[in-house]
Amino acid sequence: MKRVVVNILRIIVSLTFIFSGFVKAVDPLGTQYKLQDYAEALALQEMIPDWATLVASVSLAAVEFVLGILLLFAINRRLVTKLILVFMTAMTFVTLWIYIANPVSDCGCFGDAVVLTNGQTLLKNVLLLAAAALLALRPMVMPRFVSLSNQWIVRQYTILFIVGVSLYSLYYLPLFDFRPYHIGADIRKGMEIPEGAEMPQFETTFIMEKDGVRKEFSLEDYPDSTWTFIDSKTVTIKEGYVPPIHDFSIQRVEDGEDITDEVLDNDGYTFLLISPHLETADDSRFGNIEQLYEDAKDNGYAFYCLTASNEEGMQQWSEKTGAEYPFCNTDEITLKTIIRSNPGLVLLKKGVVIGKWSHNEEFPVLQKGKAPQMTEATSNVSYLKKLGGVFIYYILPLLLLVLADRLWAWSRWVKKEETRQSNKLFKLLKIKKTMRKKIVAGNWKMNKNLQEGVALAKELTEVVKNPNCDVIIGTPFIHLASVAEVIKGSCIQLSAENCADKASGAYTGEVSAEMVKSTGAEYVILGHSERREYYNETPEILKEKVELALANGLKVIFCIGESLEQREANKQNEVVKAELAGSVFHLSAEQWKNIVIAYEPIWAIGTGKTATADQAEEIHAYIRSCVAEVYGAQVADDTTILYGGSCKASNAPELFAKADIDGGLIGGASLKAADFKGIIDAWN
Ligand code: 13P
Repeated sequence: MKRVVVNILRIIVSLTFIFSGFVKAVDPLGTQYKLQDYAEALALQEMIPDWATLVASVSLAAVEFVLGILLLFAINRRLVTKLILVFMTAMTFVTLWIYIANPVSDCGCFGDAVVLTNGQTLLKNVLLLAAAALLALRPMVMPRFVSLSNQWIVRQYTILFIVGVSLYSLYYLPLFDFRPYHIGADIRKGMEIPEGAEMPQFETTFIMEKDGVRKEFSLEDYPDSTWTFIDSKTVTIKEGYVPPIHDFSIQRVEDGEDITDEVLDNDGYTFLLISPHLETADDSRFGNIEQLYEDAKDNGYAFYCLTASNEEGMQQWSEKTGAEYPFCNTDEITLKTIIRSNPGLVLLKKGVVIGKWSHNEEFPVLQKGKAPQMTEATSNVSYLKKLGGVFIYYILPLLLLVLADRLWAWSRWVKKEETRQSNKLFKLLKIKKTMRKKIVAGNWKMNKNLQEGVALAKELTEVVKNPNCDVIIGTPFIHLASVAEVIKGSCIQLSAENCADKASGAYTGEVSAEMVKSTGAEYVILGHSERREYYNETPEILKEKVELALANGLKVIFCIGESLEQREANKQNEVVKAELAGSVFHLSAEQWKNIVIAYEPIWAIGTGKTATADQAEEIHAYIRSCVAEVYGAQVADDTTILYGGSCKASNAPELFAKADIDGGLIGGASLKAADFKGIIDAWN
């Protein structure tokens, strides 16, 4: 829901910004005039040069348009929403001031395209501010239309486009003309007040005096003649309908005559050279103007120069350009509204504007007996056609970019998904292939008396339920039978820590594999480094033990591992391979099924120093490859290889996560039920 609301607001705010920026950009001079109005209201007009208001106008349009597009495309979401919030906060304060102080009647937010009252503008901005605040709070829920790597194209192209539109509109004329003097407009119609339109209402107050006392009266209570009239004030109490064109009049300078009707009623062509200020007008095409004036005269077309300049200005212009055409006076704001060019040329026919030229373009060349030639830019090109241009040059390229980008993103997604699926399948197959046993085995070594051992075994049966691996406890011989009883029916299996290298006979103190088996144990740990080192168990002895164990139906957990010296000499691979070769590699594949390998680096046993998961994985993989060399890949893949050496609940998950580590042979941490269970749980 939040996501939907934010995205709806995103569209509303972005489209408002885009529209607002665009209509300003198509008429930079209009926005400049508005900014100058603000400066005047603040009595700053003297301090701010024209170029500064023009730069501000172009920048304002660009900032609004670019922010709108970036928001729409969700580009730089965090920054853009914050900037929009800052922008809206500032604008809301400005419009609050306009609403209270009323320095201008229309804020100019949407240029001349949409004219709002100051109250409407304030309301609009308050709503937009609230929306902007929400967007700034949740910018990341707006999905992108273009991937990160292609966003620069939208950014740069948009800046280029909007600044281009502003410069084009400045150099020529506004790309879209929303004023009442646009090409195609009938000036007379613009001046009409429709029937029944609301008329303005005024109230007049009279100040009268009698016997030295002054008092105010209205028309209704106007006093008798004993009062003397002093002054009167008239205020508008209600604005009436104001037609779009309400201050268009032309007064010929030569004779002071109002020729507005004459100009508007003229059936033929009338050229109006418009210059609000002749003093600042561009005179680079004065030759063209003169030529046009001469040709117009020859063709019987009217030609006037409309200006708000005084006589001095007109004289200067005439001297500079040799102008011979008649000058007329028209209101400055009206002239600035008619055409955004100083000077600009307007062609009228029966009061309808049929052509407009900026001083930066070629004025029409008149041919005798032929109607004035119109170019695309100066004739009545429909808004639709112009919008078509905007679509082709700006929107279409962006749409194509979005389409290409989405296709690209989609193909990347498909590729990723394919890999993911195949990985999943591969994993599934691998799991199937590697259905080898996962084991956590304890090696109590020479710890715990019988009672303690039995108690520990009992506790383990209580805490270890439904493990995700096989659980084995390796106990001293003396415990085996009792522990076997305790764990009966549980998930825990039993292992001896050793067995004799002889089947039976006069070997005082020894325990045979057969005896081990008879206690109920299923496993025997053989080849532990402690037995190799302290009891001089050679590979040959171990070979005997392994064979006897297997022959008696025991499975063997066969330990291998290098010493610190050997590791430092980088001989670990050699060592483990030799240990395997010396005691177990002679077994048949069938016998091998009952072998579990335990890699236990001697330097990690009981030292607290664990081999890192990567170190362990590397050598486990090597051991598996050695098995594969002898028994083939499938057998190797089915062989369980345990890690032993300071394995604890804290490091077991990382170790067991490795592809070739299938569990652990645990010493110290197998002596407490909770510690041992923690390691078993690593398989969860
Ligand atoms: P620790 O877990 O105490 O290091 O002993 C490992 C071991 O030797 C298991 O057989």
